[in-house]
Amino acid sequence: MVDKVEAGAVEQLRVVQDSATGLTGAIAIHSTALGPAAGGCRFWTYSSYEDLVRDAVRLAKGMSYKNALANLPFGGGKAVLQRPTGAFDRDALFRAFGDAVAGLNGAYITAEDVGTTVADMKAIKDRTAFVAGLDHGRSTAGGDPSPWTALGVFESMKAAARLGLGVELSELSVAVQGLGNVGARLCRMLAEAGAGLVVADVDADRAASLAGELGAKAVDAAEIVAAEADVFAPCALGGILNSRSIPTLHARLICGGANNQLETEADGEGLRERGILYAPDYVVNAGGIINVSAEYLGETSEQVAARVHEIAPRLAAILKDAQASGRPSNVVADELARSMIAAATRKAA
Ligand code: NAI
Repeated sequence: MVDKVEAGAVEQLRVVQDSATGLTGAIAIHSTALGPAAGGCRFWTYSSYEDLVRDAVRLAKGMSYKNALANLPFGGGKAVLQRPTGAFDRDALFRAFGDAVAGLNGAYITAEDVGTTVADMKAIKDRTAFVAGLDHGRSTAGGDPSPWTALGVFESMKAAARLGLGVELSELSVAVQGLGNVGARLCRMLAEAGAGLVVADVDADRAASLAGELGAKAVDAAEIVAAEADVFAPCALGGILNSRSIPTLHARLICGGANNQLETEADGEGLRERGILYAPDYVVNAGGIINVSAEYLGETSEQVAARVHEIAPRLAAILKDAQASGRPSNVVADELARSMIAAATRKAA
């Protein structure tokens, strides 16, 4: 299994195993050049350990790039744990995971991700200080990261609309896929800014209720990708932009909160060929990790806001570079992240 991970793909790959609690997983540390590897802990069902490791490695790399471009003093890592099939003691499992994190002596800092909660982080905290995602009170940053994620996406969309389409949000319609923590907040900001809204969620009641509140048009979840709107904002799942969906898009701009929106790197080129401007996901959705890292560093909400407001200008610079060089924006963003990591590696050597 581990021999299938490309050599040099990550700095460290640790198997995490504790038979007493049913803990099985992996911690991948992609890079510590810019600081300790920060990235959440995913608790999910995988069909094989090989798939789990592959996901950990891919996600850890994504965190390196996201943290670098957000100018955070962190490298990238990720933990992925297999959800046990039968009954299990959740606190005991996450305490055992905390022991594994402690064993890395600060090279990896964990937090919430898909499938994990604040309560899980508290269990981890019993065993190690290298954990974030716990609400420490009002004066310092912490708590739900999604309002910051939504704000970064909103400001990015405003900047990309001006730069790429030459218009304000009030002149555009936006199709939002997924109306959860990030998507619903984004919709409220867009409605406030005067944008037209088309919304969808697999939970049709949720879509109908938000549409009623904001005067938006709700459509079936299957129709949202190809909805007739100027902007498409994926705020649900990854892999939504692929060789099947790209030919059906009406939108001229893609900007949303979901992670890993491109199924493959080549899909960025597919968007470019169709003249669709793509705001790279990890550039625009960094508000959440900015908030989590500020909590870990003991920074204030003002410092979080200042970092989040830097997201849109950074996106604009990437889009300008992509336009000037005729390259896909995801490739430009990846190159920039890699060069920042490489520069820090050289400095440390
Ligand atoms: P959430 O779980 O609160 O909301 C997701 C929503 O999408 C749910 O309402 C769900 O019913 C809906 N959904 C799922 N599949 C769908 C489909 N095929 N079509 C339409 N709707 C669908 O999640 P959250 O926190 O809003 O995150 C959304 C995305 O943003 C995820 O990809 C997440 O990884 C990413 N993200 C979230 C951050 C945060 O701060 N919460 C930070 C960075 C990225």
